[in-house]
Amino acid sequence: MCGIVGYVGSQKATPILIDGLLALEYRGYDSAGIATIENSTLKVLKDKGRVNNLYNLDGINELEGTVGIAHTRWATHGQPSKLNSHPHMDNSNQFAVVHNGIIENYADLKKFLETNNYKFFSETDTEVIPNLIHYYYTNGPVSILSDSKERFLGAVKSAIYDLKGSYAIEVISTICPNEIIAVRKDSPLVIGKGDGENYIASDIPAILKYTKDFYLLDDNEFAVINKDSIKFFDNTLIEHNKAVKNIAWDANAASKDGYEDFMLKEIYEQPTAVRETIGSRFYLGKKCSFDDIHITKEYLQSVNKIFIIACGTAMHAGLAGKYMIEHLCKISTEVDAASEFRYRNPIVDEHTLCIYISQSGETADTIAALKLAKSKGAKTLAISNVIGSSITREADYTIYTHAGPEIAVASTKAYTSQVVLIAILSMYFAEILESTSYAEIEELKASMVDLPSKIEQILDDSSKIKDFAQMVYTEKDMFFLGRGIDYTVALESSLKLKEISYIHSEAYASGELKHGPIALIENGVTVIGIITNPQLVEKSVSNVQEVISRGAKTLIITNQILPSSNFDYVFNIPNTHPLLSPILSIIPMQLFAYYISKFKGLDVDKPRNLAKSVTVE
Ligand code: G6P
Repeated sequence: MCGIVGYVGSQKATPILIDGLLALEYRGYDSAGIATIENSTLKVLKDKGRVNNLYNLDGINELEGTVGIAHTRWATHGQPSKLNSHPHMDNSNQFAVVHNGIIENYADLKKFLETNNYKFFSETDTEVIPNLIHYYYTNGPVSILSDSKERFLGAVKSAIYDLKGSYAIEVISTICPNEIIAVRKDSPLVIGKGDGENYIASDIPAILKYTKDFYLLDDNEFAVINKDSIKFFDNTLIEHNKAVKNIAWDANAASKDGYEDFMLKEIYEQPTAVRETIGSRFYLGKKCSFDDIHITKEYLQSVNKIFIIACGTAMHAGLAGKYMIEHLCKISTEVDAASEFRYRNPIVDEHTLCIYISQSGETADTIAALKLAKSKGAKTLAISNVIGSSITREADYTIYTHAGPEIAVASTKAYTSQVVLIAILSMYFAEILESTSYAEIEELKASMVDLPSKIEQILDDSSKIKDFAQMVYTEKDMFFLGRGIDYTVALESSLKLKEISYIHSEAYASGELKHGPIALIENGVTVIGIITNPQLVEKSVSNVQEVISRGAKTLIITNQILPSSNFDYVFNIPNTHPLLSPILSIIPMQLFAYYISKFKGLDVDKPRNLAKSVTVE
């Protein structure tokens, strides 16, 4: 969703800001804008459309300012337009603001400001912020302060105090032309520390090429950023120190590195992502362990229910996790969409463990669902890919996938890393609880160690999937079938296809086919069957036969010997432990969605209407 970049230093800010916005394009947006300060004047250039359009705007090359803020907007209040784009200024043109998130009480604030003669030019919630800052700067208790820096910070603090909702905000002002004030609540913001220059971003990849030293701003914490200093204040404006974090991501990890698209690169990075996520968390013959968490047998024995809560692809990883936890730990496990969980008064208490999966760690619904479970006394465990992300700061325990930055909107390497990590977590719990035999866990570990080379094998065979994609890319509907853990892969495969090819698709548990969906099968419809469970081969094949006899075109993804051969295409994947099969069977399905999108000439990395990180409800 929306992206934020900021720069303060000695260089011209504009190229750095636009470069940062380009790196954030993957988050999804519809407008872009930039503001710098020059000769005590705020200059704002913005419009709807792509970030690169900024280069076509009159005056962009004349922006010489060395302090600036920039934004990509994903419309919530008001359609994409020049007027609604950020930055927004106050009526006196002294304050410029960019904002991610939603101000829930903006209508009341707007009314209040209007009665004080402020005028509004956009339909956004954001425009109240610079005007409120101006209001407090001129009318608030701080207006008597003689120190303009203190007065500016005090006015921002007073304005923030009035806001309800979520926000990551940057403010610049002609009053203090050499600084940026940043503050956040429930929306991420990081500050990159440079040498004689500093950076701000809503997302680390935007500034990763300039620095690897980051401060992760906390909720209700203010930062005042100059080129030579970064000061932090709490919500009463008491200054405090903050530790810098070194983020070990490689700057190249956020570039395409010779690949045509980020998604393809990320699909091919999966062997590495899986290897890194396994790391030193287990060795054959040795128990699983996590550096970051230690969970006792006593606590696990007290848990009678596990919830896995997430959104989108992360929820599909959670569904695979349910099979693993129930099989290995014998604890009843339920998976829920965060947006459902948070509003259905779930039965959660101190005997419930809630596991939250979020690549970004910033998904609004997932964070809210975590806070809800905590308030009901449950312990919470976060699985995230982003160090220090919001979810990791709220959870009782956190474990990280090591997938590296994922840029393409359609998640690939984050998913496989999440499934791997839940598998390790399930083994870790099972070893503590002694709920599965040593032999089975060792077999799982051995299978897991082999996964990266097996993924490589599948990737080497990608041309076969490309051929099938070419046969069917013009179709309007497709169906994915699977039983047991294969059904979770069918769901994820269907989501992948929808997201980037805009083809309508449905995933069904194979046994449910007869209860309705089979009515949709007619001559030529494409049905993809995922068959990896040795115990369910016969039943799954029978379900595929039912669609073949009604004229469907079929592709089977399997690691089993099938009892019939009348399928249009069979793609064989290497064998593995049945619980780990999603990590292999999803790879051809990711490639399938990718190639279909390419054949259709679509933007694979930035599909329409979607955002990488959904930071609003
Ligand atoms: C968005 C993305 C999906 C992602 C989901 C959850 O919808 O487009 O790819 O799976 O959010 O994101 P999270 O960062 O919480 O894993």
